[in-house]
Amino acid sequence: MVTILVTGGAGFIGSHFVEHYLREHSDDTVVTLDKLTYAGNLANLFSLQGNPRHFFYQGDIGDEQLVSDIIRKYEITHIVNFAADTHVDNSIKNPRVFFETNVLGTQVLLDAARAANITRFVHISTDEVYGSLLTGEATEASPLLPNSPYSASKAGADLLVRSYVQTYKFPAIITRSSNNFGPRQFPEKIIPLFIKCLMAGEKVPVYGAGTNVRDWLYVEDNCSGIMHVLEKGTLGETYNIGGGNMLTNIELTRKLLAHFGLDDSFIDFVTDRPAHDQRYAIDCSKIHKLGWTPRHTFVAALTKTIEWYKSHLDWSMSEQRLA
Ligand SMILES: NC(=O)c1ccc[n+]([C@@H]2O[C@H](COP(=O)([O-])OP(=O)(O)OC[C@H]3O[C@@H](n4cnc5c(N)ncnc54)[C@H](O)[C@@H]3O)[C@@H](O)[C@H]2O)c1
Repeated sequence: MVTILVTGGAGFIGSHFVEHYLREHSDDTVVTLDKLTYAGNLANLFSLQGNPRHFFYQGDIGDEQLVSDIIRKYEITHIVNFAADTHVDNSIKNPRVFFETNVLGTQVLLDAARAANITRFVHISTDEVYGSLLTGEATEASPLLPNSPYSASKAGADLLVRSYVQTYKFPAIITRSSNNFGPRQFPEKIIPLFIKCLMAGEKVPVYGAGTNVRDWLYVEDNCSGIMHVLEKGTLGETYNIGGGNMLTNIELTRKLLAHFGLDDSFIDFVTDRPAHDQRYAIDCSKIHKLGWTPRHTFVAALTKTIEWYKSHLDWSMSEQRLA
């Protein structure tokens, strides 16, 4: 039996992971620790209300006492660290909190986990740490060339985790996934933001000319990839997790517009983000060799996502926030 601590588990990917994990492991226990920032929402864990194998704590991963107490109380053996400030635009306006949570918070978590001799620590990172690649694909050995304060803070955390592996033989694994999408993503990221605009009959704000390329990964596929790495990954290694769905932002926008029966007149081209990465691309052969591949097709997953937002109109409103 495993008792796993999931940080950031009231956020978008973390909440899907908690649900996914408990579905797959009927005997294990999950403890969720989340600060409930604007991006965290207890309603994301609604399906687990009353589940005797799930415990929730509101708190900061940088709170040493709280983290150590939880690890001791529940005899935590595994940790998956999703907790982070995640929105690039916010990191450009206010970088500091990104380093406090993403780097220093991770360091507190690593020290508490090390003191407790935990068995496995999976640190959730992003393909954004590789920076913009005009051609080719980043492997896990590619240089880290972050261009935003967000991606710099994530790269800093990755290097910190690496240093603990090297220095203390700490049992960590890093995953770096591409852009996730799916139900319950806070409507500041492109897909839920555009769905929200289109549902309200408003134009969608596309940065620059919309030529930036991203790979899209359905959130359920990322969760199964992270689980696969948690169970079968080699300690000390890093695994890219991608969906194999490369699209320019304008291609993605037109797919969303088509879904609502709308045309380009609903696009508002707005001033580009500073240092906006042109293209992310990752080579996922390492995790494929480990036996994982994504199972959802992009079109079906996008449709499912749009339908979810249509049927949960008040999800991001304050009254839905159970916290
Ligand atoms: N969304 C993506 O496309 C994507 C892609 C690659 C990697 N990632 C990474 O996956 C992880 C989860 O991303 P997400 O999209 O679910 O983010 P999110 O913003 O939806 O959720 C982050 C969660 O972390 C919590 N949190 C923030 N600061 C905290 C702190 N100091 N202590 C405890 N909890 C705190 C928030 O309350 C929130 O619930 C992040 O580490 C992110 O960098 C995300």
